[in-house]
Amino acid sequence: MRAWLMDGYEGIERLRQAEVPDPQPGPGEVLLKVRYAALNPADAFLAQAQYPARPPLPHILGRDGAGEVLAVGAGVEGVKPGDLVGILRCEAGVERWGTFAEKVAVPAASVAPLPEGWTLEEMAAAPLVYLTAWQALVQWGGLPSPGQVLLVTGASGGVGVASVMLGRSMGMTVVALSRSAEKARRLRELGADHVFDPGAPDLKQQVLGALDGKRVDLAVDLVAGPLFHTVLQLLGYGGRISVAGRSGGTVPDFNTAMLFFRRLRIGGVSVGDYTPEGAQTAWKEIVRRLAQLGQKPVIDSVFAFDQLKDAFRRLAEGPMGKVLVKVA
Ligand SMILES: NC(=O)c1ccc[n+]([C@@H]2O[C@H](COP(=O)([O-])OP(=O)(O)OC[C@H]3O[C@@H](n4cnc5c(N)ncnc54)[C@H](OP(=O)(O)O)[C@@H]3O)[C@@H](O)[C@H]2O)c1
Repeated sequence: MRAWLMDGYEGIERLRQAEVPDPQPGPGEVLLKVRYAALNPADAFLAQAQYPARPPLPHILGRDGAGEVLAVGAGVEGVKPGDLVGILRCEAGVERWGTFAEKVAVPAASVAPLPEGWTLEEMAAAPLVYLTAWQALVQWGGLPSPGQVLLVTGASGGVGVASVMLGRSMGMTVVALSRSAEKARRLRELGADHVFDPGAPDLKQQVLGALDGKRVDLAVDLVAGPLFHTVLQLLGYGGRISVAGRSGGTVPDFNTAMLFFRRLRIGGVSVGDYTPEGAQTAWKEIVRRLAQLGQKPVIDSVFAFDQLKDAFRRLAEGPMGKVLVKVA
């Protein structure tokens, strides 16, 4: 099969296309013909040794994908050749070969059927970011209450859009941050009640003005950097921050005294923590909520398989939704 191979940890620009033997589905696994694969910032981090995994080389990146089942291994029930499925987060693209290839073998427990009315592109685009957003929203002890205020930083990206939609599905008031006026318009269409530019010098006043006396109950932070201080300032008593990303770099001069008097809580998010069963349960709930909203995953762009490096450049620019490659 054709695949993008990673021979070392020198970054995405060093990936090369090559012919490699097809993977074989082991017991409990399925072999997929990958039609679409979605990109995630973690692919680029892994390629630069900025991610905990150190897979054997050469490695194939790519954690999200959707396509057709070609074969199933011993003991697989409920999935058969010809089925159209997507991959829920598993070790594909992390410790074992991933989806930037014509074929991929994954555990049968980590595939899910194409939801009704979805395209294969939408299925490839969704699982990793929606599962991340779901964990960020529910990790504090269940569903947030309707009317609570959700703040999402980096809201236009994969996890951001997913957080906006899922927050909306829970009846939360959603405040989204994006540096782009065009993406702000799109975020309002997708369900954000208020969108602000994180670079505005009076960001705190703008957000508090819009909230009419309320403060933020839960923040999904994908940016970190200096913006993190403003996020902390916007939280109300008992406010929580689910920290999932750090596109804006490290947080300067963090004073833990900020946390005392409002009993603020900060908690990490790790999509890698899902068990296959946990991912399946969360995924069903995500699909149900999107159907209820009448919404589907948002695709920024689809590149040809040969243009994988251009697709990563687009991801680094800050997309509106997900960036994909069409594999077959
Ligand atoms: N912890 C986990 O399990 C987990 C899982 C998935 C992803 N992540 C992490 O979460 C982060 C977001 O992932 P994603 O897939 O949503 O990424 P993405 O699709 O690349 O989107 C990131 C968004 O953040 C904004 N942004 C980028 N750089 C910024 C900066 N310097 N300052 C302010 N805003 C900036 C951009 O929005 P605007 O241009 O609109 O401002 C961009 O669209 C990444 O760091 C990723 O590694 C973590």
